[in-house]
Amino acid sequence: MNVLVLGSGGREHALAWKMASSKHLSKLFVAPGNPGTFGFANNVNIGVNDFVALADFALKNNIECIVVGPENPLVEGIVDFFAEGEHTKNILVVGPNKESAQLEGSKDFAKDFMLRHKIPTARYKSFSKSTMQAACDFLDTLQAPYVLKADGLAGGKGVLILTDLDHAKDALKQMVDGKFGNASEIVVIEEFLDGIEMSYFVFTDGTDYVILPEAKDYKRIGEKDTGLNTGGMGAVSPVPFADSEMLAKIEDRIVKPTIAGLKKDQMKYFGFIFIGLMIVDNEPFVIEYNVRLGDPETEVILPRMNSDLLEMFLLAKTNKLNEYKISISSDTAVTVMIVSGGYPEDYQIGRPISVPAVSDALLFHAGTKFCENNIVSNGGRVLAVSAMADNMQKALAISYQNIGKMHFDEMYFRRDIGFDLST
Ligand code: AMP
Ligand code: GLY
Repeated sequence: MNVLVLGSGGREHALAWKMASSKHLSKLFVAPGNPGTFGFANNVNIGVNDFVALADFALKNNIECIVVGPENPLVEGIVDFFAEGEHTKNILVVGPNKESAQLEGSKDFAKDFMLRHKIPTARYKSFSKSTMQAACDFLDTLQAPYVLKADGLAGGKGVLILTDLDHAKDALKQMVDGKFGNASEIVVIEEFLDGIEMSYFVFTDGTDYVILPEAKDYKRIGEKDTGLNTGGMGAVSPVPFADSEMLAKIEDRIVKPTIAGLKKDQMKYFGFIFIGLMIVDNEPFVIEYNVRLGDPETEVILPRMNSDLLEMFLLAKTNKLNEYKISISSDTAVTVMIVSGGYPEDYQIGRPISVPAVSDALLFHAGTKFCENNIVSNGGRVLAVSAMADNMQKALAISYQNIGKMHFDEMYFRRDIGFDLST
C-alpha cells in the first residue's frame, strides 16, 4: 500500500525509515519531508496543516495510510477532516481525533482526564484572568518551586518553573495577559514533582494497546543537565532505571486506566500516546500526555523495534491489534542530537553542512533543507545520529565517532548523553 508520513523532522525521518522496511509498503511519500527522506521516499511539498491539499494528493496517489508525526495537525483535526470526507473516509490516518488530541492540546483537559480516571499526577488547579486572586491564594498553599503551565500548545515553551513566590505570581499575571497568546488564557498551576523523567509510549486503537520501547530524553542544553530546556538533545532506550517492576507499575496504574478512560469517555483514539512520566521515590506520575511520538525518542525506539510498524496499524484497523506480536531488540539504542549554536535561543540557519555517510549508525535529519543542491541547516536541532549495541557505552561510542566526521559552523552537541540522573 502507499503510505504518506507527515512532518519534516528527525522523528518523521525515523518513521519514514521504519515504514520503508515494511512488507506491506508499495510507495512511500513524506510531506514535506527533508533532505534525509529525499531519495528513499518521495518528498511532497505540502505543509502538514494544509488538509485540503493533503487530501487531494492522497486521493490522486492512492494513499491508504497517513502517519501524522507532529501534534499540530492532530490538534487542528486532521483525523476528523479525513473521516468526514466522502472520498477520504477510508484512508487510515494514524492519530487521535480532534477531541482526543486535546490530551496534548489542553493541559487543563488532560489534568481533568487524569483526575477523573484516578491516574497519578501532580496536584493542580486551573485559573484564568478572572480568578487571579484564587490563583495567588493557591500558590500560597504550595511549596517552591512553582510550576505554571500554559493550557494550550506553546511550542514546548509554555511551562515555567519558578523558585520565588513573588516571581511566580508575576509570571502568572504575564501569562494570563497573553505571554503565550491564547495558549495561556488558562494557566494550570501544579505541585512540583521532584524525580527523574522518562518517556513511555503505547499505540492504541482505543481498546487494545501495544507497549513500545521506553526512552529517556536529555532535555537540557548543557552537559550534566544544566541550562535551558530544549526539544531534546539526545535519548537512550531502554531506560536503565526502568526495571520490570517499574514498567509493570506504569502499565497497571497509568496505561490501563488511560485506555479504559478513553473508552469510558467515548473518546476515539487510534494512534500513539506518549506519556511523559516523573518517577518520584520509585512511583510513576504523569507529567503530560502527548498524542504523537517523541523527538528524539523516536530515533531510538524505532531502531529497537524489529517488527513491522505498518502491520501494527493494519491489524489495528481491522480490530486485531491483540494479534500483533511486537518484537523489540534487547540492545541499547542511543541518539545524539547535533544543534545550531545558540539553540534553544536565537541561532542561525542556512549553514552549509557536510554530511558524510555514517558507519554502523543511522543518520536522521532533524532540521535541514536543500539549497542549490547543497544541504544547509534549517532549524535549531539539525541532525540526530543513532546507534545500537549490546551496551550503552558501545552504542554511544559509535554515535560520537560518526559525529566526529560531521561539521558545520557553530555546531554543538552534548558529549554526555547517557548521563546517569538516578544517582
Ligand atoms: P511539559 O511541557 O508538561 O512536558 O513540561 C516541560 C517540562 O517541565 C517537563 O519535561 C518537566 O521537566 C517539567 N515539569 C513539568 N511539570 C512538572 C512538575 N509538576 N514537576 C516538576 N517538573 C515539571
Ligand atoms: N522529546 C520530547 C517531545 O517530543 O515532546
